[in-house]
Amino acid sequence: MAKIALIVGSVYGGAQYVAEQAQSLLAGLGYEVMLYEEPVLDEVLAFDAKVWLVITSTTGQGDIPDNLLPFYLEVKNRFPLLNGKQFAVIALGDSSYETYCGAGEQLQELLAEIQGTELAPMLRIDACETLEPETLALPWLEQQFKNS
Ligand SMILES: Cc1cc2nc3c(=O)[nH]c(=O)nc-3n(C[C@H](O)[C@H](O)[C@H](O)COP(=O)(O)O)c2cc1C
Repeated sequence: MAKIALIVGSVYGGAQYVAEQAQSLLAGLGYEVMLYEEPVLDEVLAFDAKVWLVITSTTGQGDIPDNLLPFYLEVKNRFPLLNGKQFAVIALGDSSYETYCGAGEQLQELLAEIQGTELAPMLRIDACETLEPETLALPWLEQQFKNS
């Protein structure tokens, strides 16, 4: 069974809720999914997933949520090479901010720098347009993961 490490960044629970729904969906598609709410690099590496899936909101001015920031900094400092391992990012944001989806962008750039292969271009979900981000995230995930 292919493994997915689902790494979440959330302040008010929106991205967290999407991640929980995503976990159920992906488990239903036959994946073994580990959800990391306080991700620690060594734990994620030890799980040895085929795919790293990041679902994160943006806070402050383009900032990474507090629960995800230590993981981001650890990856940046230790630079573990993914060697072609796949990743995907779903970014929740609000287009009224100049730094729209800034946290998702920072994660996307970093995972590409450590030589991950992006499964699909980052999905941005705009809180100005969508009150229920899971209604966009789940069909997108199903499309990316049903045959991969
Ligand atoms: C204080 C605050 C700062 C925010 N800053 C940004 C930002 O810089 N860029 C952005 O795209 N969205 C920003 N947002 C919007 C959130 O990312 C968006 O509402 C998201 O859906 C919240 O998800 P969460 O409940 O998982 O934290 C901000 C929201 C708040 C309340």
